[in-house]
Amino acid sequence: MGNTVDWPALEAAAVDAMRKAYAPYSKFPVGAAALTGDGRIVSGCNVENASYGLTLCAECALVGNLQMTGGGSLRAFYCVDGAGNVLMPCGRCRQLLYEFRAPDMELMTTQGIKTMDQVLPDAFGPEHLEETR
Ligand code: THU
Repeated sequence: MGNTVDWPALEAAAVDAMRKAYAPYSKFPVGAAALTGDGRIVSGCNVENASYGLTLCAECALVGNLQMTGGGSLRAFYCVDGAGNVLMPCGRCRQLLYEFRAPDMELMTTQGIKTMDQVLPDAFGPEHLEETR
C-alpha cells in the first residue's frame, strides 16, 4: 500500500508493448502495462482478428500475463496509443482491471492519476456473487 510508482517505467513498458500490437484492421496499436502488488511489471498489446468483433484489447493480454507470471494484483496501470499518448481503457477493460485491482490501484489517465473507483464507479465485482460472500 502506498508504494511509490515509477510511472516513467510503466510508460516505457506500455510503449514497448504497443510496438508488438497486431492491429492491421484498425491500425490503432495499443499497449498497456501495470505494476503488480509484488513489484513485477506485466504488459499486453491489442491483438485483432479478421472477424473484427473478436479483437482482444491490450488489457486482455495484460491480465493474461498477470495470471501467467504469478498472479496477484494490479497496483498501477498505464495505457498508450500508437503515438505513445495516454489512452483511457475501454469500458470492458475497466471491468477486467477491476477484478485484479489492488486496494490502492491507480491509473494514469488523460486527466492525471485516478483511482479505480473514479474510472469505474459503483462497479460490479466478485464480492457481488453469492458464492464469494
Ligand atoms: N483497444 C485496446 O486495446 N484497449 C482499449 O482499452 C481500447 C481499445 C484496441 C482495440 C482495437 O484493436 C483498437 O484499440 C481500436 O479500437
